Amino acid sequence: MKVSASFLSSKDIPNDLRKLNETDVDYIHVDIMDGKFVSNKTMPFKEMKHIYEYTSKRLDVHLMVENPSAYIPLYAELNTEYISIHVEIMENIMKDLELIKSYSIKCGLAINPDTPVKELVPYLPYIDLILVMSVVPGKGGQSFIPETTQKLEEVRALIDSYSLDIVVNVDGGINQDTKQFCDKADILTAGSYIVGSENFQEKISSLRS
Ligand code: DX5
Ligand code: ZN
Repeated sequence: MKVSASFLSSKDIPNDLRKLNETDVDYIHVDIMDGKFVSNKTMPFKEMKHIYEYTSKRLDVHLMVENPSAYIPLYAELNTEYISIHVEIMENIMKDLELIKSYSIKCGLAINPDTPVKELVPYLPYIDLILVMSVVPGKGGQSFIPETTQKLEEVRALIDSYSLDIVVNVDGGINQDTKQFCDKADILTAGSYIVGSENFQEKISSLRS
């Protein structure tokens, strides 16, 4: 199991990113909020881009925004492995996926707890990752929604039915107790469980085992 660490609820981002850099975490999960798709807003890119200075880990960028096309070129400049956009947005999703690919970055499609899995179907041939939200996006530190287990099973069955090579990432409320409900995922994204702890590596290792 791979682990991606979200620093959304960090109180000291530079310090926490330095600490994460000393762990074996696979990715840094970068949560971007525009105050429109979700009510909270994260810092602007001109500040956010400095995170790059504190980590050499690959970035897993999660755009919780209405217009990803304004953000994709910015985050494509960083050490980015994946950029995920939401399937619920009004912007043309195919155009956004093409824009991500034009930077040779892998594309992800995020799906909210209330959105049916079938909404993903038209985009399956064009994506590398599905980000299954196990909380309503907007803030860190929320509780894992139990129905996510079934959602993960449906997503996995869908991928298998088309024999596609798509990675499944699950995001929100992940900890030592809830990881057992996510065995259909390939990546666990955890925020407060890791950055709210004293020993980051211990928490990361507990998610892998
Ligand atoms: C929720 C974010 C998540 C969140 C994860 O809106 O997309 O990435 O920060 O944090 P925890 O693990 O605290 O739920
Ligand atoms: Zn996220």
